[in-house]
Amino acid sequence: MSEQDTPFDIVGIVGAGAMGRGIAQIAAQAGVTVRLYDANQTAVEQARAALAETLGKLASKGKIRESERDAALARIHGCVAVEALADCSLVIEAIVEKLEVKRAVFGQLEAVVADDAVLVSNTSSLSITAIGAGCRRPERVAGLHFFNPVPLMKVVEVIDGAHTAPEVATRLAAFARQIGHTPVKAKDMPGFIVNHAGRGMNTEGLRIAQEGVASFADIDRIVREQAGFRLGPFELMDLTALDVSHPVMESIYHQFYEEPRFRPSPITAQRLAGGLLGRKTQAGFYRYVDGKPQIDA
Ligand code: NAI
Repeated sequence: MSEQDTPFDIVGIVGAGAMGRGIAQIAAQAGVTVRLYDANQTAVEQARAALAETLGKLASKGKIRESERDAALARIHGCVAVEALADCSLVIEAIVEKLEVKRAVFGQLEAVVADDAVLVSNTSSLSITAIGAGCRRPERVAGLHFFNPVPLMKVVEVIDGAHTAPEVATRLAAFARQIGHTPVKAKDMPGFIVNHAGRGMNTEGLRIAQEGVASFADIDRIVREQAGFRLGPFELMDLTALDVSHPVMESIYHQFYEEPRFRPSPITAQRLAGGLLGRKTQAGFYRYVDGKPQIDA
């Protein structure tokens, strides 16, 4: 393996939410030391408990050995101080989808990591160039966009910003393979590949519902059973959660200069305001009882 292909030995993750935990899990299972940082102590504790449960289930089903479960958990170190990321050669940011908040975090990271550490964002829609522009060394900033749930969705978008050094994407692609994922290169355009193509499903699905053509459940059923998708748009939005997916829809719409075909729907704005976020609040487009959707939508 060439110098440029060398994967990263100690990886920091900023944000211990749905995405941060999933990335921590697959990296730790692949033998990488992980520092899982969140500004919120409770989020770190919940992530550790969730990771112990998930890895425990994999062991009890015989998918991994108990020794592998223990070793993976031992490689994940939770922390609430950004300084704990000082020895990381790669830091993956997975926090709220707001440019100014991400830029502030990248600034904090640059103050603690080594000059040759690579900094990436798991952003779904924001410009990697814009995130990097706030940095002292924008050439080490890139996008590494995983999908939810990370251990099952085995593809990841690797995005260069305008200033990203070419070897950064090469190393990130090697890292993606090391942790069992397939890297796909994407240009720094709003929504990259998946969340750009996804407008065709989510935004149009919302429009169909808004026009009263069909119910959420029937649109999902058709998209799954006829078009062959794993999840319909409303099932997917419930999985992602509206506090994550609605800002992504707004961001893509505005970045494309209010392109009408990307216009978000008042349905998601209203539901977000009403706290109907999806699975994580047990109520979104569907209600959830013991994690199972109740089809009364
Ligand atoms: P989440 O809401 O589950 O977790 C975000 C975590 O970040 C929270 O624990 C919060 O305490 C922490 N956080 C927020 N601001 C922080 C700061 N300044 N410093 C340190 N920690 C901070 O969010 P989720 O779903 O994990 O999404 C995170 C990112 O990943 C977003 O950019 C989102 O667009 C992207 N993404 C989300 C997907 C999904 O399906 N949920 C899929 C692909 C990308």
